[in-house]
Amino acid sequence: MKTIHHSRRSFITMLVALPLLLAGLWRFLTPKGVKKPTLLQVAQADIPVGAALVFRQERVAIMREGSSFIALSLVCTHLGCTVSVTPEGMVCPCHGSRFDKLGKVLTGPAEKSLVRLAVEQNGVDLVVRG
Ligand code: FES
Repeated sequence: MKTIHHSRRSFITMLVALPLLLAGLWRFLTPKGVKKPTLLQVAQADIPVGAALVFRQERVAIMREGSSFIALSLVCTHLGCTVSVTPEGMVCPCHGSRFDKLGKVLTGPAEKSLVRLAVEQNGVDLVVRG
């Protein structure tokens, strides 16, 4: 009887300790400060004023917002179709979700905003990371 109790305690201790050990190992093995991969590099001068520059293959749209730039993933947050950028706004052709120019949902079925990608200025170029 005592052996069973001891065995149960060891099992529970292992259940608690194992995830902590794995989390520590993951943090040790994962390098810190690794930049996300470069998706695009484009000249700032190529980004039109009042419109979006769309990279269909990469499924990215870059826009000016005042003096800064915004890059949005065009992967619909509903089921992953590619969102179209039209003069009327951003529309998903699959189920009709609409997004504003900052990627916020205007109408569903998508519930989450489009993903905003990191944009870095590198001299006269923009680097978009995703
Ligand atoms: S995949 Fe875009 S609305 Fe469904």
